[in-house]
Amino acid sequence: MATRKALIAGNWKMYKTARDGCQLAEAVARGCGQVDQRGDRQVLLCPPATILAAVAASVSGSTILVGAQNVCWAGEGAFTGEISPTMVRDAGGQAAIVGHSERRQLFFENDELINQRLRGGLAHGLLMLLCIGETLAEREEGRTFPILEGQLRQALAGVTTEEMARVVVAYEPVWAIGTGKTASKEQAQDAHAFVRGVVAEIFEKSVAAQTRILYGGSVKPGNVDELMAQEDIDGALVGGAALDPEAFIRIVNFR
Ligand code: PGA
Repeated sequence: MATRKALIAGNWKMYKTARDGCQLAEAVARGCGQVDQRGDRQVLLCPPATILAAVAASVSGSTILVGAQNVCWAGEGAFTGEISPTMVRDAGGQAAIVGHSERRQLFFENDELINQRLRGGLAHGLLMLLCIGETLAEREEGRTFPILEGQLRQALAGVTTEEMARVVVAYEPVWAIGTGKTASKEQAQDAHAFVRGVVAEIFEKSVAAQTRILYGGSVKPGNVDELMAQEDIDGALVGGAALDPEAFIRIVNFR
C-alpha cells in the first residue's frame, strides 16, 4: 500500500485579525507538538492573506506549514487585488488553496482560471491544494462523477508528473461545506476512489497512489476518525472547526 502522509489543513476563510490569528496559530502549534515526532501527518494553516506573514512568524520553529487561500499565476504584475506565489513565499508561506467552491460560486472562478492559478503556484514552488466538488443539485441529478472528472481534468491540464508530487486534491462536496452535513464515510470514500482513478488515467497509477486526497465539508472531532479510516481519504480540509484550537487539535490527532 502506498504510504501517503496525512495532511490536515485549516482554512480560516475571512476570519481572524492579526492578534487572534496568531493566538490561534500558537495554540495549534502547542497542541500539535507530538505531531512533529509522529511524522505520519502534516498540519497546514491557511489564514487570510493580511496575516499570512504574522501567522507564519508565530509558528516558525514548528513543523506547521502556512499557506494562502488563493494565489495568482504570475510572480508579479498588474493584477489588482491578487497576491502572487512569490509574495506567499516571501511572507513565509509554502502552500496555497485554489478552486475553493466559494471562489467558484461567489467570485465566478472557472476551471480555466483555476488551472492557471494551480500551474502558476506550482511553477513558483508552492504545495497546491486543488478543491473540487459537486453541488447538491448535481449530486441529486446523478452527475457527481462527471462533474468531479471535468473539474480535475481541466484544473490539471498541463501539470507535469513531477509537479503532481506537490498537488493535493481536496474533495469538498459543496452541500457539505459549512452546513453541518458531512458526506457519509461511504459517499466520501466512493468519491475519493473515483478521483484517484481519474488521476491514474491522466498520469499513471503510481502517481495516483502517491497523490493525497483530502476530504472537506463539516469535518469535526466527532467524524474525523471514521473519515480518516477510509482507504482513499488522506486528510482533511477544515473550515469552521479550524477556528477552534481544541477542535482542530483533536482533528489533527485523528486515530
Ligand atoms: P467547513 O468548511 O469545514 O466549515 O464545512 C470546509 C471548507 O470550506 O474548506
